[in-house]
Amino acid sequence: MYGLNPDFIRVNLRPKMMLKVINVVGARPNFMKVAPIVAAMKKRPDSFQPLVVHTGQHYDAAMSDSFFHDLELPRPDTHLGVGSGSHAAQTAAVMERFEPVVLREQPDWVLVVGDVNSTIACALVCVKLGVKVAHVEAGLRSRDRTMPEEINRLLTDQIADLLFTPSHDADENLIAEGIPRGRIRMVGNVMIDSLQKNLDVARSLPTQDTLGLRGIDYALLTLHRPSNVDTRDSFDRILDALEAITAKLPIVFPVHPRTRKTIAELGLSDRVASIKDLKTIDPLGYLDFLNLSSRARLVLTDSGGIQEETTALGIPCLTLRENTERPITVEMGTNVVVGTDTAKIVSAATTALNGSAKKALRQPPLWDGHTSERILDALEE
Ligand code: UD1
Repeated sequence: MYGLNPDFIRVNLRPKMMLKVINVVGARPNFMKVAPIVAAMKKRPDSFQPLVVHTGQHYDAAMSDSFFHDLELPRPDTHLGVGSGSHAAQTAAVMERFEPVVLREQPDWVLVVGDVNSTIACALVCVKLGVKVAHVEAGLRSRDRTMPEEINRLLTDQIADLLFTPSHDADENLIAEGIPRGRIRMVGNVMIDSLQKNLDVARSLPTQDTLGLRGIDYALLTLHRPSNVDTRDSFDRILDALEAITAKLPIVFPVHPRTRKTIAELGLSDRVASIKDLKTIDPLGYLDFLNLSSRARLVLTDSGGIQEETTALGIPCLTLRENTERPITVEMGTNVVVGTDTAKIVSAATTALNGSAKKALRQPPLWDGHTSERILDALEE
């Protein structure tokens, strides 16, 4: 009689451990991080039962729904419908509405991404309930505690059980804050999974034709940080720089709802409209934005994610902030942190435009399109 090999029994006949994972999304920069993770979980149906919870921090079609469509993210299993509010009101509302979902679903893991208010709110609910929480994009630090996101990052990393980092600087930050190495896994940048998967489709769209940009050099601009758009002083300095740059090439500006609101409130509507070749448009979906960013001559932004996407694409980026939590993008050579001084922005734009159109592509380790698989491997460990 032949008995079964004990190794065969151990590997193949043990009861499979099915992990129920709640994946939290809340605001626009979350969707492209969660989409590849949920897709990877669906490819391992014996190991993962993924649920998607949308807090509703962002709710407009342009800020939320279009991303579900573009990224083929399944409709949320639960929508908390939180909406806008002060930081305290929004964070508290997410906590109150997320807690019963966790109690009802009893997940093995809750996965939070990025640094928005929904991230810290849901992580805090989990740690109080003793439910394991993993943070994707852990360890990034701007060292600017006036940024709401910096507080969200610091606190989430302190309480999460497992910290998935995108780059070596993030590991160093966490270790310097006393976080045990055993809680940290460097897995790479999950946004690049989405970018690689969608780049060809995005580039085949007629976005440039629709905007009259086919065959011409243009710059792409995004602005939404409260420190840039909520006060007249900083916004004026940036507008002066944009006016000077439009003498060299047109700038396309998909306007974030927060920025549209403050342009009106600060009495800047006429000034913005008067800048010839500053083309303001509604916020774009993921694929249309990627179409434009992948072919831009220059990107100007105060977003975190766009600094990383331009590194992956090899497109010159000027970051209109005094600091960045993504120094690896500067190290790779695509990103320059210029601040909001008019002369500095114009001078950096001139330098970037005089340089070669495309820089040699250097990529940080593990920004390779397989980060979501490494995250799943670690959860299964
Ligand atoms: C939030 C995140 C920020 C992220 C950004 C990306 C926090 C603290 N901030 O900032 O880290 O970079 O999202 O977009 O979590 N609004 C709409 N429709 C929407 C959402 C917002 O009109 O779907 C308007 C509302 O007037 C709202 C304002 O935008 O009050 C700001 O929204 P909020 O979510 O508070 O912060 P963001 O500036 O979007």
